Amino acid sequence: MIILSIETSCDETAVSIIKLSREKKVTFEVLSNKVLSQIDIHEKYGGVFPAMAKREHEKAITLLITEALSEANLLTEKTKTFHLENGVRKKLEKLLEKEKQLIEPLKTLFEGINKPKVDLIAVTEGPGLEPSLWVGINTAKALRLVWGIPIYAINHMEGHVVSSIISKNKDSKFELEEIKLPAITLLISGGHTELVLVEKLGKYKIIGNTRDDAVGEAFDKVARMLGLRYPGGPEISKLAEIARSENIIIPDELELPRPMINSKDLDFSFSGLKTAVLTRIKNLENLTEKKKKILALSFEESVTEVLVSKTKSAIEKHNAKSLIVGGGVSANKYIRENLKRLSKEENFDIFLPEKNMSTDNALMIAIVSAIKVRNNIPPSKSLKATGDQRIDRI
Ligand code: KG4
Ligand code: ZN
Repeated sequence: MIILSIETSCDETAVSIIKLSREKKVTFEVLSNKVLSQIDIHEKYGGVFPAMAKREHEKAITLLITEALSEANLLTEKTKTFHLENGVRKKLEKLLEKEKQLIEPLKTLFEGINKPKVDLIAVTEGPGLEPSLWVGINTAKALRLVWGIPIYAINHMEGHVVSSIISKNKDSKFELEEIKLPAITLLISGGHTELVLVEKLGKYKIIGNTRDDAVGEAFDKVARMLGLRYPGGPEISKLAEIARSENIIIPDELELPRPMINSKDLDFSFSGLKTAVLTRIKNLENLTEKKKKILALSFEESVTEVLVSKTKSAIEKHNAKSLIVGGGVSANKYIRENLKRLSKEENFDIFLPEKNMSTDNALMIAIVSAIKVRNNIPPSKSLKATGDQRIDRI
């Protein structure tokens, strides 16, 4: 079974194609995995600019699908001139009423190539930026309209969960790792900070959430205050690492709070921490390079301590056997190291994503749909973008 997946929830346009093996387990080959990042475009705004993100997805998606099909050896060009039937063309134009930029490239695709041997489409339905999500969803719907391929609507966060639990087997195929259950998932990205209880794959319960900013969002905003580039996570992390290697001690006046660390629940809050950084900066005479380094260190320490402490409570409370970490922030070296240490101390298994699987990609979306296939879940009929608070991320 061949699955083509589409991910456009934020600032990465991504398409992947996998070949799912016939066996019962989720075992697959990756035929293509394309990610086009818009980071350069959003950098000057210091965050994701939704209208711009939508436009860039519209520009890129058809091209990425074509490239992915070609790489997967599924693309054959039509030998005779072909025009879409009037009725189909009208339906296509109606479908893409709000994504007009998609009409011409998709028409050209449908008129230029034969229906590829794709059995399923998987597309991210949310959470994410609504206008961006619609580009992916309506592209998928267009493929369904013209080629008659069924669609699975996929949750983006579920994608991050599975990204951390794939490994290569001896035949160079990918498969899902065996996980001892129940597991706790810590999802840390630009839009989310969640603790999720996993009773079985596909069955999730959110047991902790951020009450305001997501942790990645806090990284990005603090980075902006420090005059660092977007996305801020890697920049802060680099500075903090330098500070650590120089054995810099954080002076009292640049220490930061550990928000909600002693609250009885598993919730988070990062907005106050961000404000605390701003207050520290305002109280400084000069934001020197050294002070920037200290603040980056202080911020990373605070965030890490909160994340580790809440994760520990979640593991203890639910007697979890494994921890799955997902989302863009899980690329953070210091957070990874500290979660690994916790797993040793508390004796649970830990699953962290490979670097290229921690940020947004379409492969993870295909894998979630493969699990649905294995669980005999029928394809989705109605599809709707489910947005989130990242709309006001800048
Ligand atoms: O999952 P992701 O790629 O997109 C969303 O769904 O949000 O996460 C992006 C977020 C950004 O906020 C970025 O600053 C953060 O992940 N990030 C990091 C690191 N690398 C990326 N945060 C901290 N340390 C990092 N090394
Ligand atoms: Zn993400």
